[in-house]
Amino acid sequence: MVSGLEGVVVTRTRLSHVDGENGALLICGLHIEDIAGHQDFETTTCNLWSHIIHDMPLQTFRERLAQARCEIIEYLDVIECAEYTRMPTYEALRAMIALLPDGTSIDDALRLIAAPAVFLPAIVRIRHGERIVYPSMQHGHSHDFLHMLRGTPPTKEDIEALDAYLVTVIDHGLNASTFASRVVASTGANLNSCVLAGMGALLGPLHGGAPGPVLDMLDSIEVHGDIASWCRRELDSGARLMGFGHRIYRVRDPRADVLKAVLDKRAAKGHFSERVIFAQRVEQIALELLRQKKPDRSIKTNVEFYTALLLENLQIDRTLFTAVFAMSRIAGWIAHAIEQKQDGRLLRPQSEYIGAKPNSSQV
Ligand code: ACO
Repeated sequence: MVSGLEGVVVTRTRLSHVDGENGALLICGLHIEDIAGHQDFETTTCNLWSHIIHDMPLQTFRERLAQARCEIIEYLDVIECAEYTRMPTYEALRAMIALLPDGTSIDDALRLIAAPAVFLPAIVRIRHGERIVYPSMQHGHSHDFLHMLRGTPPTKEDIEALDAYLVTVIDHGLNASTFASRVVASTGANLNSCVLAGMGALLGPLHGGAPGPVLDMLDSIEVHGDIASWCRRELDSGARLMGFGHRIYRVRDPRADVLKAVLDKRAAKGHFSERVIFAQRVEQIALELLRQKKPDRSIKTNVEFYTALLLENLQIDRTLFTAVFAMSRIAGWIAHAIEQKQDGRLLRPQSEYIGAKPNSSQV
């Protein structure tokens, strides 16, 4: 029995590779540093979905995704008249996605990546008593999302920063949520069920639920005033510092560096630069204390630390962070679910029974 399945290989994939010893991440054979900040979300998704969309040209893919966003608006009536805006955002998004038709076609897949970009802004705007902004065929995915969320056209820098984020987190080997999606796909279930399984797994604070708490941690340290004593107190009480540590990476998570580069560029132009400088001081002190506290474990900054700072820098509310993560990772879950259906078998491991047994006279 291997606790937490650490180090166990259960499938083969052509989609992404996490090299934890060397701190490298490949997406479809390319280093994350060579695509994030250089490609937009549509380009990376098009590459990641080559086994789903085959030779579909990138421009056609862009148009079909924009079309899917525009078609999603027919579901917005449901938000207006139902409970969704009173639920926590992530749960509302999950409930809305569950309403979509379920299947395995390209249209089903496109609808599932289009949905969060339309639903999230609508949920937020209705909650604030604002008019919904409708999607546009003229905009790229990140542009359209920011426009629908804010109600005003985003700058080119904001669009590029969001694209860099969405590309950075689109896929990451057999992480917990992707594994959950593949398990569901292996039973023959359709894409909607695979995506909902991934969404459930992503929500936990040990996975995609961390970035909101990263900001809570920074706020709390700021109020306390002494970074080292705050971190020491938390570590001594057995708590975890959010945004640090990873199951696979024993060196720095390369995605943290990619997002840090985007953030540093924005901070240099004056976007929340004081917050960024403060956070980086916290990071240095936290790393040193983690090194002292867990010398054998090599706990480094993970992607969620810089996710939190970058999304905050884009003025996205922290209650949306995990949902914005899902907005990208859905593309990865779908890529894995289809790969599992094409190449895989039913995923059905075994457990070691340690419970009660009938007494020997009954055996
Ligand atoms: N702060 C303090 N201690 C930590 C941290 C941390 N951030 N991360 C790991 N440790 C310690 C644990 O307490 C444990 O110590 P122990 O052996 O004395 O009990 C040891 O390191 C190993 O921890 P595990 O949970 O077994 O290691 P695992 O590989 O499963 O942990 C995880 C990975 C869950 C991400 C962990 O580092 C963590 O909880 N980090 C904080 C939450 C976080 O940032 N989550 C986002 C992850 S990135 C992503 O999923 C996209």
